[in-house]
Amino acid sequence: MDSTTRHILDLSRRGLLRGAGGLAALAALAAAARPGLAQPVFRSFPFTLGVASGDPAPDGFAIWTRLAPEPLAPDGGVVRAALEVGWEVAEDRRFGRIVASGTAIARPELAHAVHVEVAGLAPGRPYFYRFRAGGEVSATGRSRTAPAPGAAMDRLRFAFAGCQHYEHGHFTAWRHIAEEPELDFVFHYGDFIYEYRGRVPGQPGWGPLVRPHLGEETISLADYRQRYAQYRLDPDLRAAQAAHPFLVSYDDHEVDNNWAGIHSEEDGSRRFPIAVPPEVFALRKAAAFQAWYENMPVRRAALPRGPDITAYRRMEFGALARVHVLDTRQFRDDQPCGDGVKAACADVARPDAQMLGAAQEAWLLEGLTDSPARWNILAQQVPMMRRLLSGGISMDKWDAYPAARQRLLDGMAARRAPNPVVLSGDVHVALAATIRARPEDAESAPVATEFTATSVTSAGDGSAMTPAGEDVLRRNPGIALFDGRRGYCVAEATAARMTTEFVALPFVTREGAPREVAARLVVEAGRAGLERA
Ligand SMILES: [Fe+2]
Repeated sequence: MDSTTRHILDLSRRGLLRGAGGLAALAALAAAARPGLAQPVFRSFPFTLGVASGDPAPDGFAIWTRLAPEPLAPDGGVVRAALEVGWEVAEDRRFGRIVASGTAIARPELAHAVHVEVAGLAPGRPYFYRFRAGGEVSATGRSRTAPAPGAAMDRLRFAFAGCQHYEHGHFTAWRHIAEEPELDFVFHYGDFIYEYRGRVPGQPGWGPLVRPHLGEETISLADYRQRYAQYRLDPDLRAAQAAHPFLVSYDDHEVDNNWAGIHSEEDGSRRFPIAVPPEVFALRKAAAFQAWYENMPVRRAALPRGPDITAYRRMEFGALARVHVLDTRQFRDDQPCGDGVKAACADVARPDAQMLGAAQEAWLLEGLTDSPARWNILAQQVPMMRRLLSGGISMDKWDAYPAARQRLLDGMAARRAPNPVVLSGDVHVALAATIRARPEDAESAPVATEFTATSVTSAGDGSAMTPAGEDVLRRNPGIALFDGRRGYCVAEATAARMTTEFVALPFVTREGAPREVAARLVVEAGRAGLERA
């Protein structure tokens, strides 16, 4: 018996054994196409988690799927073997004109995720893609290449969203994003999952309990994998991910609430008396980043190395936009003053405060120095705007790292970076603001504009105005918009202006909310700051 045959027999034996236990979704029975590779036969549909694409370039994009016939099982219901997955990219939805195809290996080490970097495509046009394994065919995804370098384009349209606590409501916002026409990309700023344990009905806790998380707080790789699977089974989220190319990032909840650099939320403070040492927290980060990579349509450069991952990157959209995707979690200092919302303590004034870390900050300023694009989009996580609250400032946002923010704003001004626009989220309300040269001085010159997307579900049904919203508008003349409902943003940029539409949903604790435009705000090229359309 040669080693290939033995391998296949071993696979099939395991498949049958699992079947006898009533667990199996897969019996790998067939002959190997190549030595060491099994052609699987699935007992149930393996593409349950859908398909996605991301990180578009002028000649291609990344496409993603994961084999998981039993998505909530620890191993996804797949044997522990490398399996071959075919992929195809076509110009038409019926795959009559296939322009690229190949095979990729789905490895058990990566939860049978597949990341293919498709290249050789034409710029600035839509494509369709799908995967095959074991005689099964995935859903069809639609993606889009970026325009040719420097190409004049009439308009760029993109959506941005994040903060999708599963327990707090339905992903109706993703259904509406799926149906948005002609998006060049969707930026996901993070909080794709929440790490918290499943709540029991009746148990008090943050936000409404519409549909409980499975399992305990996510700490191990198996925990994070199952959490991503639970989220990705949502049909609205799958529809959005299949409909448009994504630029994905992460914020805190992909790992642990309000983690910061090497520091866990459990920091030995009064709220968390038992601190998690950095070398132990690194193990959790490694598990969290691996599961994030396994579940995201990113390029292979984002494969983590233990607790380290490179998720900041740049993408160009012709002559119109350069998008700088930032990582404001992995390299920042611990939140000053013990985190929370409070009056600033002395630590906020530290001159060497880090939000991006030295390397990313230098990379960002370099990318702003020679930017040929009309718009420079800083796609990131937490609000950069000055945002005074009744209790002080939030120690988790740029407000608590003023020296880092000032270095960035001074650097942008010195380099005359064209039209910086900051995207953010995390605070579960929609905001729009003018960022001034010295944010603490409301009289200083406007230098950038910020749009903060509200949450997809986090915090449950909201209302357009709240007492906190009235308070934040009263205290902050630079904040032009507050909306406390769930939703997302869609921006359209031309050479002359960028118009951002704030989409609000009247409810998320029930399905089927209609889409409402809460506001449209306009930035004119060459003039930072906001006007109501
Ligand atoms: Fe969030």
